Amino acid sequence: MSDSEKQDPPHEEHRETAEPNKLDDTELHEVHAQLMREHREPKENFAPMPLFMVFIFAGLSFWGGVYIVQYSGDFDGFVFDETVRPSEAEPAEPVEFDPFRAGERFYRRNCVACHQADGQGVPGTFPPLVDTDWVEGDKERLIKVVLHGLVGPIEVRGNTYDGVMPGFRGSRDRDIAAVLTWIRTNEWNDADEVDEELVVDVRERYAGRTEPWHVDDLGEPSDPVDE
Ligand code: HEC
Repeated sequence: MSDSEKQDPPHEEHRETAEPNKLDDTELHEVHAQLMREHREPKENFAPMPLFMVFIFAGLSFWGGVYIVQYSGDFDGFVFDETVRPSEAEPAEPVEFDPFRAGERFYRRNCVACHQADGQGVPGTFPPLVDTDWVEGDKERLIKVVLHGLVGPIEVRGNTYDGVMPGFRGSRDRDIAAVLTWIRTNEWNDADEVDEELVVDVRERYAGRTEPWHVDDLGEPSDPVDE
């Protein structure tokens, strides 16, 4: 069928109608088919959230709360230890306190800023802890220095230092014993361990002390134990 025929169909093929604009059957059929193909006009609905969704949300919120309470570690920064490798199997028993390792850790946290990682200090400012008669000598004096601090001029390995060594009274006896054990028994020095009991004892005897020590209070360190 060409366009002209469609526009103006020959009269004899169509039933005559009284109204000239009325559609014949075929056309009516076509219009209906078009209407059927059309989608319904969309309209906005109000629908409440499905009940199962409400239950899922409530369940997830409850589970989230329980999870946070259980696994937050009280939001303590020390609970999550980034040094622990997940590949390392959990030790079957609680690990025993190792003064040497704990001492090294305590040193890296509290002493390294001044006495440096290699224990050599900073010339003219912070005295070395390697091969010094302060470290290798009398344990009680050493504990006093670390508990309460030290001020005034001192001589270490032939050099004079006049600085302020802070006290660590706030730290635990076990940690003080551990760090002193570490600096005395690692490769820096050649001395023996410091027991926690001795730290407890020295702390008790000088419990009232808040001032740092002066070398005159402590006496000169004994001679080096070893070269
Ligand atoms: C803020 C810096 C600083 C920190 C932190 C510090 N010290 Fe000291 N330390 C000094 C200074 C300064 C002296 C010398 C004090 C003086 O001149 O009277 C000293 C002296 C010493 C001495 C006696 C002298 C020697 O070199 O043998 C020892 C032992 C010692 N410190 C150990 C420690 C230990 C152990 C720690 C960590 C628990 C520590 N210090 C943390 C600054 C520091």
